[in-house]
Amino acid sequence: MVIAAIAVVAVLVLRGGPATSPSASKQTTTSTVTPTPTPTPTPTPTPTFEKTQFSTTDPSSDWVLVNKQNPLNPVNYKPPLAPLGLPGVGGSMRPEAASALQQMFADYKTQTGSQLTVQSPYRSYNTQVSTYNGWVTRLGQAQADRQSARPGYSEHQTGLAVDIDTAVSQAFGNTPAGIWLAQNSWKYGFVVRYQQGQESITGYEYEPWHFRYVGVPLATELQKAGFPSLETYFGYPAAPNY
Ligand code: DAL
Ligand code: ZN
Repeated sequence: MVIAAIAVVAVLVLRGGPATSPSASKQTTTSTVTPTPTPTPTPTPTPTFEKTQFSTTDPSSDWVLVNKQNPLNPVNYKPPLAPLGLPGVGGSMRPEAASALQQMFADYKTQTGSQLTVQSPYRSYNTQVSTYNGWVTRLGQAQADRQSARPGYSEHQTGLAVDIDTAVSQAFGNTPAGIWLAQNSWKYGFVVRYQQGQESITGYEYEPWHFRYVGVPLATELQKAGFPSLETYFGYPAAPNY
């Protein structure tokens, strides 16, 4: 009896401890992952962007630079035009700018579900006369000159500029549309022509609604390098006044 009892106790003691501890049997998944070696990037040579490949003085060039020191030549230059057929005021722009704008509006709608509107695209010399005079009547000449170009000096006359959604409110820059456009318009060849804090160079207050078509290669270049104005990029003198 005593021997039997000792045997039972011995068996119970021997069975008592767990065969393996939980921590020893459980492997974490991360410790079994073999790290993938980071591929060494192949250096691609950066081609130098040729700044002089298009004219900045010819009004029919997508790169034309128009400001208070550089009027259009002739002042009543009329570009070839294509109808926009977009929401807003209608109107037209140079054909290459019109197709780029149509694509940008379409992509904006697809991506956000909202619709941009054209407020002011191409303006003739005569339309610029009434636009400018309207601002002078409303604000006086000194303030009008900070936000509206005199006839012969407006990018809108080239058919390459367009005001989107507004032509008044700087708060537009903080709206979803204004933010999207500032971030994405370069992909379509547009730049925010009158950026914040550039009035002493461009001659105009911040206009987050005014987009200037320059073509995708130049817009990409300006975006990449963070150039705040065409004047700065092309090495033109500041044009705060006429
Ligand atoms: N608002 C811009 C400066 C123009 O009138 O062309
Ligand atoms: Zn404008």
